[in-house]
Amino acid sequence: MKTSWMLIPAAAFAALAFASPSMAADDACELTIEGNDQMQFNKDEMSVPASCDEVTVTLKHTGDMDASAMGHNWVLADSDDYEEVAKAGMSEGLDNNYLPEDDDRIIAHTDVVGGGEETSVTFSTEDLEDQDLTFFCTFPGHYASMNGSFTVTQED
Ligand code: CO
Repeated sequence: MKTSWMLIPAAAFAALAFASPSMAADDACELTIEGNDQMQFNKDEMSVPASCDEVTVTLKHTGDMDASAMGHNWVLADSDDYEEVAKAGMSEGLDNNYLPEDDDRIIAHTDVVGGGEETSVTFSTEDLEDQDLTFFCTFPGHYASMNGSFTVTQED
């Protein structure tokens, strides 16, 4: 009897937590990605449902190296533009997060961070649904290996 009394409330609580739509939506709209000292992201694809008006991407640098040597940022652009954006940012320096200034091709971006640091960016998903988007790092030499697809997915 004692065991049953313990289990029933726990099961009821779990069911409520899973049933809460706002909780699920909040989680789906917040994404985390890691970068490391080996010049790698830990994901090559990211997606959010179109029901997210805004999405927050948090970038965690899990390495030890300084931003000046192994900096990472998280930048989003159309897949047709990302390589040109990365090349344009290369000469802009760490102070400018290796990004071309006022470049309309940049949909969203974080600052450059070094080992042990994290940063995040929040942006609107308006007009991004069904677009072919790529996220990447613009630190010089990184974009070729540090990139992946970003999708705002339509719901049924
Ligand atoms: Co990088």
